[in-house]
Amino acid sequence: MTVLVVGGTGRTGRRIVAELQRRGISQRVLVREEALARQVLPAGVAVQVADVTRPETLGSVLAGCDRLIVATGANPAKDGLFGPLRIDFEGIRSLLTAIQTGHHPVQHIVLVSSLCVSRFFHPLNLFGLVLYWKRRGERLLEASGIPYTIVRPGGLKEGGSGRPVLQNADTLFEGSIPRDLVARLCVDALAEPRAQNRILEAIADPNLPDDVPFAELLP
Ligand SMILES: NC(=O)c1ccc[n+]([C@@H]2O[C@H](COP(=O)([O-])OP(=O)(O)OC[C@H]3O[C@@H](n4cnc5c(N)ncnc54)[C@H](OP(=O)(O)O)[C@@H]3O)[C@@H](O)[C@H]2O)c1
Repeated sequence: MTVLVVGGTGRTGRRIVAELQRRGISQRVLVREEALARQVLPAGVAVQVADVTRPETLGSVLAGCDRLIVATGANPAKDGLFGPLRIDFEGIRSLLTAIQTGHHPVQHIVLVSSLCVSRFFHPLNLFGLVLYWKRRGERLLEASGIPYTIVRPGGLKEGGSGRPVLQNADTLFEGSIPRDLVARLCVDALAEPRAQNRILEAIADPNLPDDVPFAELLP
Protein backbone atom coordinates (compact mmCIF):
# COMPACT_ATOMS: atom_id res chain seq x y z
CA MET A 1 0.00 0.00 0.00
CA THR A 2 1.21 3.50 -0.86
CA VAL A 3 -0.84 6.42 0.39
CA LEU A 4 -0.98 9.79 -1.33
CA VAL A 5 -1.58 12.47 1.30
CA VAL A 6 -3.20 15.53 -0.25
CA GLY A 7 -2.94 18.65 1.90
CA GLY A 8 -0.05 17.17 3.85
CA THR A 9 1.41 20.54 4.84
CA GLY A 10 -1.83 21.44 6.61
CA ARG A 11 -2.19 21.27 10.36
CA THR A 12 -4.11 17.98 10.13
CA GLY A 13 -2.30 16.77 7.03
CA ARG A 14 1.15 16.94 8.63
CA ARG A 15 -0.12 14.81 11.50
CA ILE A 16 -1.48 12.28 9.02
CA VAL A 17 1.97 12.17 7.41
CA ALA A 18 3.58 11.64 10.82
CA GLU A 19 1.08 8.89 11.71
CA LEU A 20 1.71 7.05 8.44
CA GLN A 21 5.45 7.35 9.01
CA ARG A 22 5.10 6.10 12.60
CA ARG A 23 3.26 3.00 11.30
CA GLY A 24 5.81 2.42 8.54
CA ILE A 25 3.24 2.87 5.77
CA SER A 26 4.65 3.95 2.41
CA GLN A 27 3.47 7.42 1.42
CA ARG A 28 3.88 10.34 -0.93
CA VAL A 29 2.75 13.86 -0.06
CA LEU A 30 1.17 16.25 -2.54
CA VAL A 31 2.22 19.78 -1.60
CA ARG A 32 1.75 23.20 -3.12
CA GLU A 33 5.08 24.56 -1.87
CA GLU A 34 8.14 22.39 -1.53
CA ALA A 35 9.86 24.86 0.83
CA LEU A 36 6.93 24.72 3.25
CA ALA A 37 6.90 20.92 3.03
CA ARG A 38 10.60 20.78 3.98
CA GLN A 39 9.83 23.03 6.95
CA VAL A 40 6.84 21.16 8.39
CA LEU A 41 7.21 17.52 7.30
CA PRO A 42 9.56 14.92 8.75
CA ALA A 43 12.79 14.37 6.84
CA GLY A 44 12.76 11.52 4.36
CA VAL A 45 9.12 11.84 3.33
CA ALA A 46 8.60 11.82 -0.45
CA VAL A 47 6.95 15.03 -1.58
CA GLN A 48 5.71 16.08 -4.99
CA VAL A 49 4.55 19.54 -5.96
CA ALA A 50 1.04 19.72 -7.43
CA ASP A 51 -2.17 21.64 -6.90
CA VAL A 52 -5.70 20.26 -6.88
CA THR A 53 -6.92 23.35 -8.74
CA ARG A 54 -4.48 22.58 -11.59
CA PRO A 55 -5.66 19.22 -13.02
CA GLU A 56 -2.62 18.94 -15.30
CA THR A 57 -0.38 18.53 -12.22
CA LEU A 58 -2.25 15.55 -10.76
CA GLY A 59 -1.57 12.59 -13.06
CA SER A 60 2.10 12.10 -12.23
CA VAL A 61 1.62 12.51 -8.49
CA LEU A 62 -1.01 9.72 -8.44
CA ALA A 63 1.20 7.19 -10.20
CA GLY A 64 2.02 4.31 -7.89
CA CYS A 65 -0.41 5.35 -5.13
CA ASP A 66 -3.32 3.04 -4.29
CA ARG A 67 -4.86 4.92 -1.35
CA LEU A 68 -5.53 8.62 -0.77
CA ILE A 69 -6.06 10.68 2.34
CA VAL A 70 -7.32 14.12 1.42
CA ALA A 71 -7.02 16.84 4.09
CA THR A 72 -7.14 19.92 1.91
CA GLY A 73 -9.06 23.01 2.88
CA ALA A 74 -9.39 26.57 1.69
CA ASN A 75 -7.74 29.32 3.68
CA PRO A 76 -9.67 32.63 3.56
CA ALA A 77 -6.47 34.73 3.50
CA LYS A 78 -4.66 32.67 0.86
CA ASP A 79 -7.49 31.36 -1.31
CA GLY A 80 -10.16 34.09 -1.23
CA LEU A 81 -13.93 33.76 -1.34
CA PHE A 82 -13.90 31.22 -4.19
CA GLY A 83 -11.42 29.00 -2.34
CA PRO A 84 -14.06 26.56 -1.04
CA LEU A 85 -15.55 26.14 -4.54
CA ARG A 86 -12.13 25.70 -6.16
CA ILE A 87 -10.54 23.48 -3.49
CA ASP A 88 -13.30 21.64 -1.61
CA PHE A 89 -15.44 20.94 -4.68
CA GLU A 90 -13.53 21.37 -7.94
CA GLY A 91 -10.34 20.05 -6.31
CA ILE A 92 -12.09 16.79 -5.37
CA ARG A 93 -13.57 16.59 -8.87
CA SER A 94 -10.12 17.03 -10.41
CA LEU A 95 -8.59 14.36 -8.20
CA LEU A 96 -11.36 11.88 -9.05
CA THR A 97 -11.13 12.69 -12.75
CA ALA A 98 -7.35 12.23 -12.70
CA ILE A 99 -7.75 8.85 -10.96
CA GLN A 100 -10.40 7.68 -13.41
CA THR A 101 -8.91 8.96 -16.65
CA GLY A 102 -5.43 7.79 -15.64
CA HIS A 103 -6.80 4.36 -14.62
CA HIS A 104 -4.97 4.60 -11.31
CA PRO A 105 -5.90 1.56 -9.20
CA VAL A 106 -7.02 3.52 -6.15
CA GLN A 107 -8.68 1.23 -3.62
CA HIS A 108 -9.75 3.67 -0.92
CA ILE A 109 -10.02 7.44 -0.41
CA VAL A 110 -10.34 9.02 3.02
CA LEU A 111 -11.62 12.59 2.90
CA VAL A 112 -11.47 15.01 5.83
CA SER A 113 -14.65 17.08 5.63
CA SER A 114 -16.56 18.79 8.45
CA LEU A 115 -19.52 18.50 10.79
CA CYS A 116 -22.61 20.42 9.66
CA VAL A 117 -21.91 20.23 5.92
CA SER A 118 -25.58 19.43 5.32
CA ARG A 119 -26.70 22.67 7.01
CA PHE A 120 -26.97 25.41 4.43
CA PHE A 121 -28.01 28.08 6.94
CA HIS A 122 -24.85 27.85 9.02
CA PRO A 123 -22.60 30.80 9.87
CA LEU A 124 -19.56 29.05 8.36
CA ASN A 125 -21.23 29.31 4.96
CA LEU A 126 -20.68 33.06 5.17
CA PHE A 127 -17.11 32.22 4.14
CA GLY A 128 -17.52 31.26 0.49
CA LEU A 129 -20.25 28.66 1.20
CA VAL A 130 -17.53 26.45 2.61
CA LEU A 131 -19.85 23.83 4.10
CA TYR A 132 -22.01 23.74 0.99
CA TRP A 133 -18.99 23.10 -1.27
CA LYS A 134 -17.58 20.51 1.09
CA ARG A 135 -20.85 18.58 0.90
CA ARG A 136 -20.81 18.83 -2.89
CA GLY A 137 -17.26 17.46 -2.83
CA GLU A 138 -18.36 14.62 -0.56
CA ARG A 139 -21.15 13.75 -2.99
CA LEU A 140 -18.73 13.44 -5.87
CA LEU A 141 -16.69 11.00 -3.83
CA GLU A 142 -19.79 9.02 -2.82
CA ALA A 143 -20.81 8.75 -6.47
CA SER A 144 -17.32 7.90 -7.76
CA GLY A 145 -17.52 4.15 -7.26
CA ILE A 146 -14.19 4.26 -5.40
CA PRO A 147 -14.40 2.93 -1.84
CA TYR A 148 -14.32 5.90 0.55
CA THR A 149 -14.50 7.04 4.12
CA ILE A 150 -15.59 10.58 4.81
CA VAL A 151 -14.43 11.79 8.22
CA ARG A 152 -16.37 14.83 9.38
CA PRO A 153 -14.60 16.30 12.39
CA GLY A 154 -15.94 18.90 14.78
CA GLY A 155 -13.83 21.94 15.67
CA LEU A 156 -10.18 21.06 15.24
CA LYS A 157 -7.88 21.60 18.22
CA GLU A 158 -4.10 21.80 18.15
CA GLY A 159 -3.68 19.87 21.40
CA GLY A 160 -5.65 17.84 23.88
CA SER A 161 -6.72 14.25 24.15
CA GLY A 162 -9.75 12.11 24.85
CA ARG A 163 -11.72 9.27 23.38
CA PRO A 164 -12.96 9.76 19.82
CA VAL A 165 -16.74 9.64 19.44
CA LEU A 166 -17.87 8.48 16.00
CA GLN A 167 -21.43 8.84 14.74
CA ASN A 168 -23.32 8.48 11.50
CA ALA A 169 -23.95 11.33 9.07
CA ASP A 170 -25.93 14.37 10.21
CA THR A 171 -26.24 13.35 13.82
CA LEU A 172 -23.55 15.51 15.48
CA PHE A 173 -23.72 19.29 15.35
CA GLU A 174 -21.23 20.43 17.96
CA GLY A 175 -18.04 19.36 19.67
CA SER A 176 -14.36 19.41 18.96
CA ILE A 177 -11.51 17.00 18.44
CA PRO A 178 -7.71 17.24 18.52
CA ARG A 179 -6.08 17.12 15.08
CA ASP A 180 -3.86 14.24 16.30
CA LEU A 181 -6.95 12.09 16.80
CA VAL A 182 -8.38 12.98 13.39
CA ALA A 183 -5.08 11.98 11.80
CA ARG A 184 -5.16 8.65 13.59
CA LEU A 185 -8.80 8.01 12.60
CA CYS A 186 -7.96 8.67 8.94
CA VAL A 187 -5.12 6.16 8.97
CA ASP A 188 -7.17 3.64 10.97
CA ALA A 189 -9.97 3.90 8.38
CA LEU A 190 -7.62 2.65 5.66
CA ALA A 191 -7.26 -0.69 7.39
CA GLU A 192 -10.85 -1.28 8.51
CA PRO A 193 -13.24 -2.70 5.90
CA ARG A 194 -16.24 -1.67 8.02
CA ALA A 195 -15.21 1.98 7.61
CA GLN A 196 -15.64 1.82 3.85
CA ASN A 197 -18.37 3.74 2.08
CA ARG A 198 -19.36 5.53 5.23
CA ILE A 199 -19.55 9.02 6.60
CA LEU A 200 -18.16 9.20 10.12
CA GLU A 201 -18.77 12.29 12.21
CA ALA A 202 -16.03 12.69 14.78
CA ILE A 203 -15.60 14.59 18.01
CA ALA A 204 -13.72 13.67 21.17
CA ASP A 205 -14.79 13.27 24.77
CA PRO A 206 -11.89 14.73 26.77
CA ASN A 207 -13.18 13.10 29.96
CA LEU A 208 -12.79 9.55 28.70
CA PRO A 209 -9.54 7.65 28.19
CA ASP A 210 -8.34 7.12 24.65
CA ASP A 211 -8.31 3.34 24.99
CA VAL A 212 -10.89 1.99 22.52
CA PRO A 213 -9.73 0.44 19.25
CA PHE A 214 -11.02 2.07 16.05
CA ALA A 215 -13.25 -0.85 15.04
CA GLU A 216 -15.11 -0.62 18.37
CA LEU A 217 -15.69 3.11 17.92
CA LEU A 218 -17.60 2.62 14.68
CA PRO A 219 -21.33 3.33 15.01
N1 LIG B 1 -10.64 24.38 11.51
C1 LIG B 1 -11.60 23.63 11.99
O1 LIG B 1 -11.99 23.73 13.15
C2 LIG B 1 -12.21 22.57 11.11
C3 LIG B 1 -13.30 21.86 11.60
C4 LIG B 1 -13.82 20.82 10.81
C5 LIG B 1 -13.27 20.53 9.57
N2 LIG B 1 -12.21 21.28 9.11
C6 LIG B 1 -11.65 20.91 7.81
O2 LIG B 1 -10.64 19.95 8.04
C7 LIG B 1 -9.69 19.98 6.96
C8 LIG B 1 -8.29 20.10 7.55
O3 LIG B 1 -8.22 21.29 8.31
P1 LIG B 1 -6.82 21.95 8.71
O4 LIG B 1 -7.12 23.00 9.71
O5 LIG B 1 -5.83 20.90 8.99
O6 LIG B 1 -6.45 22.65 7.33
P2 LIG B 1 -5.21 23.58 6.97
O7 LIG B 1 -4.22 23.63 8.08
O8 LIG B 1 -5.79 24.89 6.50
O9 LIG B 1 -4.54 22.82 5.73
C9 LIG B 1 -5.14 22.80 4.49
C10 LIG B 1 -4.21 22.08 3.53
O10 LIG B 1 -4.80 22.11 2.23
C11 LIG B 1 -3.79 22.44 1.31
N3 LIG B 1 -4.35 23.01 0.10
C12 LIG B 1 -5.17 24.08 -0.01
N4 LIG B 1 -5.44 24.33 -1.29
C13 LIG B 1 -4.77 23.39 -2.01
C14 LIG B 1 -4.63 23.13 -3.39
N5 LIG B 1 -5.23 23.91 -4.29
N6 LIG B 1 -3.88 22.08 -3.80
C15 LIG B 1 -3.25 21.31 -2.88
N7 LIG B 1 -3.32 21.52 -1.55
C16 LIG B 1 -4.08 22.55 -1.13
C17 LIG B 1 -2.96 23.46 2.06
O11 LIG B 1 -1.73 23.65 1.40
P3 LIG B 1 -0.74 24.86 1.82
O12 LIG B 1 -0.06 24.40 3.07
O13 LIG B 1 0.14 25.00 0.65
O14 LIG B 1 -1.63 26.06 2.07
C18 LIG B 1 -2.84 22.74 3.40
O15 LIG B 1 -1.87 21.74 3.31
C19 LIG B 1 -10.10 21.15 6.09
O16 LIG B 1 -10.88 20.69 5.04
C20 LIG B 1 -10.96 21.99 7.04
O17 LIG B 1 -11.87 22.80 6.33
C21 LIG B 1 -11.67 22.28 9.87
